[in-house]
Order: sequence, then structure tokens, then C-alpha cells
Amino acid sequence: MYDQDQTVSLQQLTKKLLKQSGAISELRDVLRFHENRYYVLNDPLISDAEYDKLYKDLEKLENEDPQLITPDSPTQRVGNSLNKDFITVPHLVGMLSLENSYNATDLNDWDKRLKKLLNVTHLEYSAEPKFDGASISLIYENDLLVRAATRGDGIAGDDITTNIKQIRSVPLSAKFSNYGIKRIEIRGEVLMTKIIFKKYNESLVDQGSAPLANPRNAASGSLRMKDPNEVKRRNLEAVLYHVSFIEQNEGENHLNKLLSKHSTTLEMLHELGFKTPVQEKKVLKDIGEVVDFCKIFEDKRDDLPYEIDGVVIKVNAVEFQQQAGSTTHHPRWAMAFKFKARQATSKLLKIEFQVGRTGSITPVAKIEPVHIGGVTVTSASLFNEEIISGKDIRIGDTVIVERAGDVIPYIVKPLKELRDGSEEIIIFPKSCPICNDELVRPEGEAVSRCVNINCPAQVAERIIHFVSKDAMDIKSLGEANIRKFFELGLLTDIPGIYKLDFEKIGALEGFGKRSIDNLQNAIEQSKAQPLPRIIFGLGIRYVGETTAKKMAKEITHLLDFVDFAEEKLLHIEDIGVKVASSIYQFFHLEDNIVMIKKLEELGVKLHQEKTLKREAGKLEGLSFLFTGTMPTLKRNDAEEMVEENGGKLLSGVSSKLNYLVAGEDAGSKLEKAKKTGTVKIISEQEFLDLMGK
Ligand code: IVH
Repeated sequence: MYDQDQTVSLQQLTKKLLKQSGAISELRDVLRFHENRYYVLNDPLISDAEYDKLYKDLEKLENEDPQLITPDSPTQRVGNSLNKDFITVPHLVGMLSLENSYNATDLNDWDKRLKKLLNVTHLEYSAEPKFDGASISLIYENDLLVRAATRGDGIAGDDITTNIKQIRSVPLSAKFSNYGIKRIEIRGEVLMTKIIFKKYNESLVDQGSAPLANPRNAASGSLRMKDPNEVKRRNLEAVLYHVSFIEQNEGENHLNKLLSKHSTTLEMLHELGFKTPVQEKKVLKDIGEVVDFCKIFEDKRDDLPYEIDGVVIKVNAVEFQQQAGSTTHHPRWAMAFKFKARQATSKLLKIEFQVGRTGSITPVAKIEPVHIGGVTVTSASLFNEEIISGKDIRIGDTVIVERAGDVIPYIVKPLKELRDGSEEIIIFPKSCPICNDELVRPEGEAVSRCVNINCPAQVAERIIHFVSKDAMDIKSLGEANIRKFFELGLLTDIPGIYKLDFEKIGALEGFGKRSIDNLQNAIEQSKAQPLPRIIFGLGIRYVGETTAKKMAKEITHLLDFVDFAEEKLLHIEDIGVKVASSIYQFFHLEDNIVMIKKLEELGVKLHQEKTLKREAGKLEGLSFLFTGTMPTLKRNDAEEMVEENGGKLLSGVSSKLNYLVAGEDAGSKLEKAKKTGTVKIISEQEFLDLMGK
């Protein structure tokens, strides 16, 4: 792997590399190193833009001389063609499932059984999360990823190599040879993190498709997808947690010592660039410690970035694992401790039809209150009409409700055997429950929509979106306030935010002078938000934060888009036909233009200097880190400025850091920076001065 100490100046290095022959393999190593920092360690050292630049350099070199392409080059993840039929391939070792335990007694019994079987008085365990995703098996041969397979029936699975290559935390090659290994089979789980799941579902709904029920379905549904590019879009992760087979290189008589314990095997895999539960795992000296660990981990469940449904406990010594062996169903040396179910039954009382920001109509089930995993649930998602009729859910049904982490609870299925005949079929409205306009269901879409742009429900949702954290970020004007003002007629559209009647608001209950002042200030400050935030805040269909940023780079004034033909929009990076058409329509609707002009009249800044178009690097070659609260700049904006000016962002204080920009309440980072003696500590103003601002 590429050594971190050599990342002094990527620009310099890249230039040097490009000149040298044979440099291509070093460039690949640089990219692999940064892929590992980003996708495996979640601790990038360079910005996305810098990574992209290096990637493009590599692509260029490979295009010039395609013979130089290697199968494990970072460019070779791209799946150019559709998967045809998935071929069934045998696993080197059968993929067994795990025995389940639910309490301390189950675990103690297992411990006793094992000790007796192994004829020992003491056993060390290693425990780690039980990931709730889709299991996979990877084979590396001579350091190259040669095959990835689904579990299938446990004996043989489907060859899904192309799809797995889209998961950037899976190394296409790894130096197993350094450990004397010629061929290895590794087991793991494909996951979608909770945040990515939420975003992915939002994008599905925006496109008129049905959202997915939970991250597990999102992961398992991805493995056998025909289009590898769709797998890539899902931003999945793969965690590897078990080595099931090893063939050593000729002349190697002894297995590497790391492979003698499960815990150190995880460390080896981590060293080789895999994502493993190396941080989460804990070596425990007896079953008592295992029981404690399981309890503590269950409490931490909601704090983790991914879904887990239990803990897996493994005998740590591989020799004992081999002695204990397996039954036909599961290994005797491993045990799953299952957390309390997050499912419960309740009664479906009625359905409410809610109107979203884009007019989508979502059915929400109101259920008899039920406790699930410490939370009282009264509503559950039903997704859409097709899902309701597919599952045959009726009002009055006893239903199974599942709550998975942060995800909105949803109805898994009705218990039909408990019906008494009084249940009613759910009828979808033909007109909008709010404005009464007729609903439209576009061809191929799963969702009905209210297309009345002035529908009050949509207007309120659009205002909420406009002020939200990633858009104009007007903190004091939260969702509840907007709904209240909207209902009272104090706020009727987006520009209305900038002419709120504070006197009337002041007369409302709960609005003291201080909260009015805060509200007024927050609204005033938002007028200077950068263009990408405004563009995102407009809620143009299919335009997320990333697209908004890319769009902003093309203009100096928001209304420049009025003169953009669809063709021109298509030239913007990552904008396809559907998005271009949506943007075009937005800027050709008179109501929208009137709204934008009103915003400008009310003082919202809609223009920007052309500087956003990457000012040839005032900060080129310099690295930055921000800490504490800055007097005027928001952290995100300041970081963006660094990237736009060719500088790079670091995630921690190290000898490679040039500048620490310290604001108020700066803490440990500032202390650490002072100790280095090499990091320059500067204020926000000094930072702005560096860019000549
Ligand atoms: S070890 C031979 N470790 O849970 C033992 N499995 O319900 C190999 N799973 O089939 C499995 N997290 O797909 C292991 N940390 C973990 C796991 C894990 C999730 C899955 C795995 C297994 C299933 C059994």
C-alpha cells in the first residue's frame, strides 16, 4: 500500500509520475491508498476534486496505451455492460448459518457445551456486530479478486463479481502474498448505511418510484442487479468478517501467526485494505464478559451508522474452531446473540394521505400505539398503492410493524388469519386530499401526484425544504413554526419568509422578544447564502445538493438559467436528460420566475462572482483544517472555498497540515496544532486574506 508520508504534494507527485515511465502503477497505488482512506477508513486525506483529478490522469494514461490496463486498476470497477444471467458457482467451503441465542442462559449453556467438547476449562471469545445486510463470499487468487458470490443455497451461489466491484471499499487486489497466501475465500456482508439509505429512498420517491423498506432489502436487492451502474449508485459497503479457506503459496509451511486467532485475522484483513469490524470487535476472556458485551452493544445499536440485529460471538483460537467443527447447519464455535425484535403487532386504524413537496401522495397508516424497542409507534409507512394491494393490507387488520433504527416504521404484512370480515379495503383518493385537484399517475411511476403547483400542502413542504439545513439553513424557522405561520396565513409562499410580519408573530403565544430577534437575524443572514444552497432550496425535481453545486458553477446569476436550452444543461457534469428537462421546465414556468425575482427584490443574493469556476489555485499545494466556530463563515462554505481555490482539506492535525483555521471554542485540535510547532494557526480573516478576499 502507498505510504501516507509520501503524500506531500499530490500535484507535484502526479506531474512527476506522468513524466516517468512505469509511473502508472505508482499512480494506481496512490489512488488505491486514497480509496482506502475514504471508503474503508472514512478518513480522507484529499478532496474529492483532487481524487477525481488523479483518477482522470490514470484514465488518460490507460486510454493512451490500453495495454497498460491491469484487471485491478481503480478504473476497472466500472461495469460497462449489463450482467446477463448470473452463473451459479460453488463455494470453496459451504456457507453455513449461525445458531441463535437470546439471553445469558443460552450463552452460558453454549460455553459449557463447548468447553466439554474441547476438553478445556477456559475459552477466549471474540465478539463483533451481527451485520444486517446480505452475505457474500469473495475469492482472491494470487492477490487478485477473482470471484464474488452470493450465499445461494450455502453450497453454491451466484457469481456477482461485476456488481461487487462497484463497491469501492472492496479492494480489487490485496497483498495476500505477503502473508504466504495463494488463494483465500473471505466471508462478509454487503450493507447500506442508514444515511445513504435515507438519501437513496428520498431520491426514489422524487423519481416516482416506491421507496425500499429497509437497508437490508436495499443491500440484498442490489447483489443480483442487471445494471452494475445502478449498484454503484447505491453507494454500498462491504464488511468482511471471516476467512473460510486458505491455500498457501508453495514452500510456505506455516500459516501466518495472525491467522491463528479470529481477532488478529480481522486485523490482517484490515491491514490489507478491507473494511472489517476491527474497531467494533472485542476480545473477551470468558462468557461472563461476553454477556456484558452483548448487553452494552444492544444499547449502542441506534448510534451505529449501519443496522445490526445482534452480536456474533466466535471462539477466538482458530485451532479450537477447527476442533469444534460444524453441524450440517452451523459452526459449533460461533453463536449469534439476537437483539430484541423490532417488530410488533398492532391494529391498523385508518389511512391518511399526505402530500409531499413534489406533490407525491403517500399513504400513512395510523395504528394503535405500540412499543417497539423503547419507542411508541403510532404511524407507519405503507409506501404506495401497489405495495398495499400486493400485501392485501386492509383497515382493521392486525399488522406486523417493524421499526428499523432511524427509518420510519413500516407495515411488514397483515395477519390475514386474524380477520373477522369487518376489515375494509383501502381506497386511494382520485383527488388531492388538500386542494381537491385531480391526481395524476405518470406512466411507469408507482406514485400518484397532485400537479397543482399552488396546492397548499406542497407550498408548505416547499417552504420547509427552502429553509432546511442543507438549503438556506434558517434555523429559527423550524418546520413547526412554518406550519403554524402557514395555517395562520402569515406565510403563504417562499418569498413570504423575507416579509414576515414580526409584530403579528410577536403577538402569538411562545414568541418572546428574544425568539423574534433570533428569527429576524437568521432570516436576514440567509440572504447571503451561496447560490448552490439557493438552487437546492428551490426544490427542483431531481436536483440534489451535488447537482446544485455543479449547476452553480455555470452561472453568475440564478436567472441565467432562463436562457439555458436543454442541450446546454446536458453539458453540465452528471446532468442527464431527465434532470435537464426538469431544470428547463422549472425555469420556464412564469410562477417560478416571478418567485425568484421577488426573492431578489427582497434582498436575497442571486448573483455571484465568476470565481467559483476554480480560480487557478491561490491555495494550491496547501492543506487546511477548520476548528471551532468562525465569526462569519459556515464550516461547509469555508471548506468549499479551500477546494475551489485548489487547497486540500485534512481531517486531523498532523505534520502534513499547513494551516489550522481556529474559531471560537477551538479545542483539542488547536492544542495539538500548537504542539507540532509546524502548523500555522490562523483566524478566519487571515484565511480570507490568503485568498485575497
Ligand atoms: S460469521 C461460518 N460474522 O449472519 C460462520 N456472520 O444469521 C460465518 N452475519 O450467514 C458467519 N454479521 O451472513 C458472521 N460478524 C458476523 C456476521 C455474520 C452478520 C450473517 C452471516 C450469517 C448470518 C447468520
